[in-house]
This record gives sequence, structure tokens and C-alpha cells, in this order.
Amino acid sequence: MLSDVKEILLRAQKGGYAVGAFNVSNMEIAQGVVMAAVEKRSPVILQITESAMKYAGAKEIAEIVKVVIEQRSEDIPVGLNLDHGKGFEIAKKAIELGFNEVMIDGSRLSFVENINLTKLVVDFAHKAKIAVQAELGIVPYLGEIDLSDLDWNKLMTDPIKAKELVEKTRVDFLAVAIGNSHGFFQELDEADWERLEQIKNLVKIPLVLHGASDWSREKITKAIKGGICCFNVDTDIRLAFVHELHRATDEKCFITDPRKIMGLARDSVKRKVIEKINLFGGANKV
Ligand code: G3H
Ligand code: 13P
Ligand code: ZN
Repeated sequence: MLSDVKEILLRAQKGGYAVGAFNVSNMEIAQGVVMAAVEKRSPVILQITESAMKYAGAKEIAEIVKVVIEQRSEDIPVGLNLDHGKGFEIAKKAIELGFNEVMIDGSRLSFVENINLTKLVVDFAHKAKIAVQAELGIVPYLGEIDLSDLDWNKLMTDPIKAKELVEKTRVDFLAVAIGNSHGFFQELDEADWERLEQIKNLVKIPLVLHGASDWSREKITKAIKGGICCFNVDTDIRLAFVHELHRATDEKCFITDPRKIMGLARDSVKRKVIEKINLFGGANKV
């Protein structure tokens, strides 16, 4: 059932485990995620980006995902987040479409602009009892940063500024940069655990780690101890879905019924999400 994301993450914070936030862009991926959450009895967050909205149609994808949650999640708490919203209008639109968390990503703006934008969204969202996630520091994407000029210290979250941003905006969750990156962009060999510890001590709200697809069990465990309550996973879900499509169409190219192929891809997503839930310690938390 669609449930308060603040409650979901505060419970994870208290319980010393993390919740997966999985990117979804079609019905089968959304179903695979929810089916896994139900089987493992784990809270889960489904999230949609602006580019997924452009691909599917904002209302269409929002309605599909909401119906999947309504029809399949039983008593499992499920959140619906706007991932990497870049401005006030898209955050407002997501709230109107029924999302119950919005991420406002001002991480590429100046510190002051990030605070101002985040505060604008928080003030609006909180009136509607919607939780907000901000980001401070840069979690890079492949192609965004010149590799010859890569200085992780310039990208990572400043703990003192994190405290200031949280106090000034009253944001509910904070996405941190501790050497993590999106997709296949090379990460810092060892995450900056000391920095995470400082952020956790200064900022009491649940912390979110983006780019978690390629994080090992060891790193995940350390991150949870360091205060991470939510891991964002997109690339691994895409791979699970697309690899299965390739496999199915290579080996069984005589299949003409798309449902027979998409169903296999949905099962593959479900298996991958189960793997992640086990890694994050979220099983049997409902
Ligand atoms: O960080 C967010 C996603 O991995 C990028 O997703 O291609 O849907 O914008 P997108
Ligand atoms: P990955 O694609 O690296 O899993 O990152 C996902 C993410 O951070 C979505 O916001
Ligand atoms: Zn992200």
C-alpha cells in the first residue's frame, strides 16, 4: 500500500537496515519490484525520473505505477518518489500526480541556490504532507566529469554545509556524495567513510546513497552503519530487464507474443530486487 516515506525511512534508520529505491519506467519493471517486496516482506520505494515521464507520459506512467502498487503491494509499505526533480514545477506536478516523496536535486546549483530551491519545494510539499529529499555534493554520471580533471574532494558532500542546508530547509532526507557515482562511472576506490560519519553526526535525518547498483555487500554494510537508510538502484534493474529480453529473443526468436518475453524480463527484475533487498537487510521488516 502507498505509505508515508518518512515513516518508512525513519523505521529503517531506527532498525539499522536500508530500503531500496528502484527506478521504474514501465509496467513490468514496477510489477517486478512490487512482487519482490511482497515476497520478501520488505518496504520499498518506486521512483520515476523526469525522463521516464517524457518517455511514457507523466500521467500515464504515474497512473500505471500507482495501480500496480494498489493492486499488488498488499500490506507492504511502498513509497512513490520523483527521482532527481530539477525544479519547482516538476516537483509540484509529481505531487499533483500522487507521488508521496519528491527529490529536489539542486546539487549542480550554487550552495545558496540549492538551499533556496530546496526550501521552496519543502514549503510546498510539506503543506501536502509529502516528504522531500535534497542532494548536496555531486554524484557524477558518465560523461559529466572530465576524467583527467577528476577531484573527488571537490565533488563530495561538505558535512558542515549539509547541516546548514538541512537546518535552513527542513528537508526530510539527504542524498550524499561520498565517492559514489551513477551507472558505470568510476567510483572512488574506497568511499569516504569518515565524511559519512561526520554527516551522520551533524545531520540527524535519513541519508540516501545514489548509484548503489554496483556496491558490494561489504560497502553496503558499512554504509548502513554509517547512516544510509536508502539505496537508489537503477542500472542493475535496467540490466536485469534488458539482458533477459536479449536472452529470450536470442534463444527463442520464434516467440511472437510480447507477453512471453516481457514476463521473463519482469521475473528477472523481481530476482534482482530480491537480491538487493537481501543485501540491504530489508527482508521481513513488515
Ligand atoms: O539517477 C537517475 C537515473 O539513473 C537516470 O535515469 O535516465 O531516467 O534520467 P533517467
Ligand atoms: P545507479 O544507476 O548507479 O544504480 O544509480 C541509480 C540512482 O542513483 C537513481 O537516482
Ligand atoms: Zn541518482
